[in-house]
Amino acid sequence: MADYPTISEQVEDVESARTEGHRKMDWAREHMPILTAMQGDFEANQPFEGQRIGMAMHVEAKTAVLVETLAEGGAEVAITGCNPLSTHDDVSAALDEHPNITSYAKREVDDEEYYAAIEAVISHEPTITVDDGMDLVAAIHEDYPELIDSIVGGAEETTTGVHRLRAMDEDGELDYPVFAVNDTPMKRLFDNVHGTGESSLANIAMTTNLSWAGKNVVVAGYGDCGRGVAKKASGQNANVIVTEVEPRRALEAHMEGYDVMPMAEAAEVGDVFLTTTGNKNVVTRDHFEKMDDGVLLANAGHFDVEVNLDDLSDLAVNEREARDGVREYEMDDGRRLNVLAEGRLVNLASPIALGHPVEVMDQSFGVQAACVRELVENGDQYDAGVHEVPDELDREIAEIKLDAEGVEYDDLTDEQAEYMSSWQHGT
Ligand code: NAI
Repeated sequence: MADYPTISEQVEDVESARTEGHRKMDWAREHMPILTAMQGDFEANQPFEGQRIGMAMHVEAKTAVLVETLAEGGAEVAITGCNPLSTHDDVSAALDEHPNITSYAKREVDDEEYYAAIEAVISHEPTITVDDGMDLVAAIHEDYPELIDSIVGGAEETTTGVHRLRAMDEDGELDYPVFAVNDTPMKRLFDNVHGTGESSLANIAMTTNLSWAGKNVVVAGYGDCGRGVAKKASGQNANVIVTEVEPRRALEAHMEGYDVMPMAEAAEVGDVFLTTTGNKNVVTRDHFEKMDDGVLLANAGHFDVEVNLDDLSDLAVNEREARDGVREYEMDDGRRLNVLAEGRLVNLASPIALGHPVEVMDQSFGVQAACVRELVENGDQYDAGVHEVPDELDREIAEIKLDAEGVEYDDLTDEQAEYMSSWQHGT
């Protein structure tokens, strides 16, 4: 197997790390009724017997419950992080204790270690991949194409990963089927909107100990994540400014009552800048030159390329850690611009980050687990390429959740179902 060390070989006091990791996982599991219900079913039926699942995800407590759910269903799982700063080592160590799980995830790895850990996961020769950002799929296609024949398929968690996969598919380079978990209603309407909105704002507030009320908050990108951030910032009495490049999204933000303007103008008035575009170089030198003293800069998009830190370093005459997770860049005119979490996903990579609320991840990971089950049961029905998650799987997750919440809802009557599917009924 891999030369790269597991987390258990890397942490100092592995027993106490595991104890703390299990404590975090227990709390998460108690609030994850969807995965709990699925785990019961998987334990009884062992659907993943004989499967090897390779995963690259944010290794913290909620993800750990997903990993355990798959392992309890009979899979052998090898996992690493999908971001150098988002792993909780104690949770990673707790996972690594499970006889069916090997975890290589460790916080604060450098680039070389990050990719070595991905290779370590691949050395388990996965039959299924579960990614957040597509790093596993990319590494397998680039460096281990001989494994592709034995891979049933994959599942991708986030917008940027799905975006990359679609680009790969369009180039004819994606050689196995991958489900776009991100795109399901049960994922993006909750995780991207509420999850990113709540956890990004909470992490910025906790990291800085500053208030939202009365601040000009510039939200770059009004997609699912941006909508959530804008709504929740507005709910905390901030004045929200949106920047966009897509005219309908810009119009939507305008009609929601937010100020919409180019970043070049927003740079002059913003107090807090939060990027949610999945794009690069959204905030750059020209913008930094116009910003006020003391502004906060944070990113919630997948990669650390939205705020151009090279430009900022070039402009800075001095840099220092103003607080844990806050790097201050001093300009030659004395203005200080503060970057949170090194420009990485602020809700997952800041020192105190816990990621999304447990409940929304239960939904996203419920869809992930259903996709893995679908690949095992019906994988041969999917050609290579990006696939939408079958709607009935998404509905199944919603039904489990509503049941757990004790929420009842209506059924269509036969007459209504017939009416809704007919074109003959008019005035
Ligand atoms: P989306 O595609 O729904 O929205 C992105 C928006 O940004 C689009 O409306 C697009 O027009 C706009 N945009 C692109 N370039 C821009 C630019 N230069 N200036 C202003 N606007 C621009 O994507 P979604 O789902 O909102 O995801 C955004 C990013 O957040 C992705 O990288 C995704 O992977 C990541 N993400 C992060 C999460 C977290 O926990 N922090 C959770 C879910 C997604």
